[in-house]
Amino acid sequence: MKVEFLNLKLVNSIHADEIKAAVNRVIDSGHYILGEEVEKFEEEFSKYCGVKYSIGVDNGLNALSLILRALGIGEGDEVLVPSNTYIATALAVSHVGAIPVAVESDPKTYNIDPARIAQSITKKTKAIMPVHLYGSLCDMEAIMEIAKKFNLHVVEDCAQSHGACDLNGKKAGSFGIASGFSFYPGKNLGAIGDGGCITTDDEKLAHKIKILRNYGSQKKYFNDEIGFNSRLDEVQAAILRVKLPYLDLDNNRRRKVALEYSARIKNSKIILPNISQNQASHVWHLFVIRCEKRDELQKFLEQRGITSLIHYPKPFYKQPCYQNLFSKTEFSFDKIHDQILSLPISGVISESEIEQVVNALNDYS
Ligand SMILES: Cc1ncc(COP(=O)(O)O)c(C=O)c1O
Repeated sequence: MKVEFLNLKLVNSIHADEIKAAVNRVIDSGHYILGEEVEKFEEEFSKYCGVKYSIGVDNGLNALSLILRALGIGEGDEVLVPSNTYIATALAVSHVGAIPVAVESDPKTYNIDPARIAQSITKKTKAIMPVHLYGSLCDMEAIMEIAKKFNLHVVEDCAQSHGACDLNGKKAGSFGIASGFSFYPGKNLGAIGDGGCITTDDEKLAHKIKILRNYGSQKKYFNDEIGFNSRLDEVQAAILRVKLPYLDLDNNRRRKVALEYSARIKNSKIILPNISQNQASHVWHLFVIRCEKRDELQKFLEQRGITSLIHYPKPFYKQPCYQNLFSKTEFSFDKIHDQILSLPISGVISESEIEQVVNALNDYS
């Protein structure tokens, strides 16, 4: 039997009737851009995240760059980002003309190491962008404290962490001045196409971002800002409204899979991810293991019918597009990029698929 990395068709077919009804509702409404569905989704997502405002946008990358732009961050400014993240975090900084400064990630949590942040702060630093990578909440208490001390904005990248929360139930996306979410189809809350959202408690910032996402306009054909077309569309909003009520259930299933992998994979050649005491702090967007001979292990799994992926094979600061900026950058985290491997995980993976993955990993020698 083949084990796909993520069976997206199954993820959505479970909700097919509701999704089709939602799409038909939009078609029949005759209103396709910034209508009732986006407005309702924004209300529902705000409630879910425990924030005052949500602004639906076209994708996660633009969510982050719109926040930075609305905060007035631009040329000559520096923004701290983790060394271990998807390149979109850094691209958002580059898109507003600022410089992404990579801060070493912690090999235990894979997230930005709060102990390394202060040493990267200069007079030009304007913000810290923690990324709750693989679904695991960063140490927000420590990060918020540093930001307060140095008077920096915190902009959370929540593209992989919908629903993760701290011990008090405070959700990812509610800590910083504003946060960016992605609804790329494979995310824990995924659309059927691109989508994104910004969450914030700041009324003025929310107002500014709403204008920026819509050509800089409050009133049709009257433009106050040099804006963008970065709107979440009605069809995606309607689909996300169907899926949002199932997000916690889905995250719980992912937690169960993660616990099962952790309990049953017993192989000294494999390093398993850390399981936090606060299980709610991780929504297991990815289950990332480590192995010295990662490429060999990946091939072995492939032979056993299991697809695994690497997140990410080359860090953003080593990509050709950032060659000039980071040519001398070396991190002790670097070697970890050659060891990481993501196993299949989702809310729809079956017991027999889990069994197949566990058996293969335990057979690897
Ligand atoms: C950590 C992180 N930030 C930002 C993004 C960008 O989101 P999008 O693909 O919706 O532009 C992603 C998407 O993969 C991501 O994983």
